[in-house]
Amino acid sequence: MQEELNILIQAQYPLIYLVTSEEERAERTIATIAQMKPQQRRVFIWTVTHGIIEYGQPRHTTHQHNTLSPEAAIEWVIRQRDPGIFIFKDLHPFIDSPATTRWIRDAIASFKGSQKTLILMSPVQQIPIELEKEVVVIDYPLPDLAELNQVLSNQLEQSRTRRITTDTREKLLKATLGLTRDEAEKVYRKAHVKTGRLTEAEVDIILSEKKQLIRRNGILEYIEEDETLDSVGGLEELKRWLRQRSNAFTERAREYGLPQPKGMLILGVPGCGKSLIAKTTARLWGLPLLRLDMGRVYDGSMVGRSEANLRNALKTAESISPTILFIDELDKAFAGTSGSADSDGGTSSRIFGSFLTWMQEKTSPVFVMATANRVERLPGEFLRKGRFDEIFFVDLPIPEERQEIFKIHLSKRHRDLERFDIEQLAKVADGFSGAEIEQALIAAMYDAFAQEREFTQLDIIAAIKATLPLSKTMTEQVTALRDWARQRARPAASSVAEYQRLEF
Ligand SMILES: Nc1ncnc2c1ncn2[C@@H]1O[C@H](COP(=O)(O)OP(=O)(O)OP(=O)(O)O)[C@@H](O)[C@H]1O
Ligand SMILES: [Mg+2]
Repeated sequence: MQEELNILIQAQYPLIYLVTSEEERAERTIATIAQMKPQQRRVFIWTVTHGIIEYGQPRHTTHQHNTLSPEAAIEWVIRQRDPGIFIFKDLHPFIDSPATTRWIRDAIASFKGSQKTLILMSPVQQIPIELEKEVVVIDYPLPDLAELNQVLSNQLEQSRTRRITTDTREKLLKATLGLTRDEAEKVYRKAHVKTGRLTEAEVDIILSEKKQLIRRNGILEYIEEDETLDSVGGLEELKRWLRQRSNAFTERAREYGLPQPKGMLILGVPGCGKSLIAKTTARLWGLPLLRLDMGRVYDGSMVGRSEANLRNALKTAESISPTILFIDELDKAFAGTSGSADSDGGTSSRIFGSFLTWMQEKTSPVFVMATANRVERLPGEFLRKGRFDEIFFVDLPIPEERQEIFKIHLSKRHRDLERFDIEQLAKVADGFSGAEIEQALIAAMYDAFAQEREFTQLDIIAAIKATLPLSKTMTEQVTALRDWARQRARPAASSVAEYQRLEF
């Protein structure tokens, strides 16, 4: 990161947009770059509260020549003769003003051959069209292991902890990946305050703090799932695919020459286990599962806010990688981005664009697991080959699969399978999804429980008969989805099941 920024500055890029909420950390990096030979430069910082102040000077220093207004500040920058780096913090609320934009363009023009660089630093990216061609945007990444190591070393020193093993150190460091420097400092301190030490035993405290911090930003959510792949009935092909990739994110796989899996899209009929399988994959692969709530990404309170939200969430996911990024109901998240007139000033199509770009370009091991059940609402770009490693289609279960699902849910409720004629149940539940089978079972249990007795085969049959499954109420949609998916997606069920399905 420092290197990239250094190169841009050395190469005399006049305008850099640094997206970050970690001002101090970013300032320090810039100051370090400014000190580097051969071309040492002074660093100045503008804020709307203090005007321009040289880096390192105390805040109460009187600001330079009435530079509180952005225009005056930029003018001042233009007048400077010496090489310098000029950081403008939070200029984004002013940047759409015609005068400010024009002053920035004038500044850029005047910088030619003068070793001056303007850096706009802000947590949101907002660039007027006039500047788009002139600016380089850099996303200031969250601290890496090396930087976290400094934070940890400081904490250990302060707490006078004796040496810790490399192994413990690594665990403590990994536990804070995904946090800002300040946050990492805080959780180390908190863990230390709680127990008076920092050892492997404190990793759990740190992890739970991290989960809270990630939850607080409200867009990503850590999901803990106890279910394993065995609690999913049917979908043999899909399971086989996933099992085959259990070690896909290991060093060993890289050495073997395998590419990292990028992601998968699971399409299908509602209630057939799409979300369930996505969640169990995290267990299978031993990776953390982060759910990206697209609904929360959208925020109309401020221009650029939604983009910033998405960017931050993806940045966090990357820094926690290897990880699975779970986007449930992708169709809802990006509904309306294709074609239809923009009702939200283009925000959703910009978000969609940034997301696609990220998927295309990401190099960090973040596996995107997306689900959807309305293909017609899904922008076509998602379905193009190469975007996801595979697109699976999850259909309604065939009788054998329904038997499996009955068995899974009866066993989950600790019932003796011998007491039930599962074959018959599966037959009666024709057209039922996994979720509907589970619901029927629960309904039967409630009925019997209210009468203070154990539920029986007949209770389940009665509950099934009382249910009108979605496949009957929404026959058209389900048929359309099937027809569509048959040609474009890979069936999630085993080939035997697929064969039997065709015979119906
Ligand atoms: N194949 C299955 N095996 C076992 N249980 C299942 C299966 N399919 C669905 N279920 C049960 O139904 C519940 C709901 O399923 P899930 O949320 O995974 O469906 P979905 O395909 O994501 O539906 P939607 O499209 O409505 O989001 C699961 O938590 C599980 O208990
Ligand atoms: Mg779902």
